[in-house]
Amino acid sequence: MSYRNKIVTVFGGSGFIGRHLIRRLARTGAVIRVAVRRPAGANFLKTAGAVGQIVPIACDIRKDESVALALKGADLVVNLTGTLYEREPWTFRTVHVDGPARIARLAKAAGVQRLVHISAIGADARGAAGYARSKAAGEAAVLEAFPEATILRPSIVFGPEDQFFNRFAAMAQVSPVLPLIGGGKTRFQPVYVGDVADAIVGALTADDAAGRTYELGGPGVYTFRQLMERMLGEIRRKRLLVPVPWGAAGTLGGILEKVPLGAPLLTRDQVEMLRHDNVVAADAPGLKELGVTPTALEVILPTYLFRFIVGGRSPMSNPVELRQRYPE
Ligand SMILES: NC(=O)c1ccc[n+]([C@@H]2O[C@H](COP(=O)([O-])OP(=O)(O)OC[C@H]3O[C@@H](n4cnc5c(N)ncnc54)[C@H](OP(=O)(O)O)[C@@H]3O)[C@@H](O)[C@H]2O)c1
Repeated sequence: MSYRNKIVTVFGGSGFIGRHLIRRLARTGAVIRVAVRRPAGANFLKTAGAVGQIVPIACDIRKDESVALALKGADLVVNLTGTLYEREPWTFRTVHVDGPARIARLAKAAGVQRLVHISAIGADARGAAGYARSKAAGEAAVLEAFPEATILRPSIVFGPEDQFFNRFAAMAQVSPVLPLIGGGKTRFQPVYVGDVADAIVGALTADDAAGRTYELGGPGVYTFRQLMERMLGEIRRKRLLVPVPWGAAGTLGGILEKVPLGAPLLTRDQVEMLRHDNVVAADAPGLKELGVTPTALEVILPTYLFRFIVGGRSPMSNPVELRQRYPE
């Protein structure tokens, strides 16, 4: 597919999913504007394309004029802005509801052809977690302003720079125990970041994706405990998995969310989200309908968790072990 002579604006394109999406979009020949708060943090993306093809720009999604500038002349728009925690002035309302509503309204006014908005499985207008409620309100606001927008709701996304497996693997390097919030029974359907990026490109392209909502999950469903066991197996470490009751986890989240340095390790809102399974609804269209074959967790995890193995040896570089893993 070719987007030569097209301009694609990607809000929040410097993050985890963004970097994979930008690489794919660059291959289409499009000019890509990466609209973020700190454009210097997006400069590393420039090498994914030809000189001048990928252009980081500063954007404040709280301001009409700033968003309008990012959208000027754009044909296609993707919104990846999101946050797992609130830090004034960046509340869930600002990032997940008002920002997306502004992008959708101004994209419509600018004559943008396609808008893809990334939400999350668990978006729920009546949810107990602020994250869930704000993601649902964001979807509604986007569709009100831009009814042909496509909404994508991923389950937990994994890949080289993820904040899930990498974080717990780093924790396992220094701690003899790992917490199982609420006993570790919550179910997830992890989806590979490359598949999410392909799904976004698919949603920008497919005519029947306009106005539809897709839920993106990988080929397997795992409990939180099973994910921790798989991660520990990959990094060849034995650690005690200690169930933490919901009440204690909430208290811990309340303390950790007050630590003012960087992203909090846990918040009360995240504990609330963990109470609910994070799997694709049986009747929801998903990766398949967007032309993407889901990639298994077992294939990708070894390619980036090897750095947490003592000595950092990659199983992918050992032909004997490679044959044991993939006998055919
Ligand atoms: N990763 C997952 O497991 C997962 C699962 C379900 C849904 N999602 C959703 O997928 C989307 C992308 O996730 P991700 O993992 O790629 O997130 P990420 O790595 O945290 O990246 C978020 C991006 O949004 C930008 N951003 C954050 N706050 C912003 C703000 N207030 N104004 C403008 N830009 C802002 C960041 O750039 P600057 O900081 O430079 O502005 C960054 O480029 C989010 O909507 C997220 O909720 C992710």
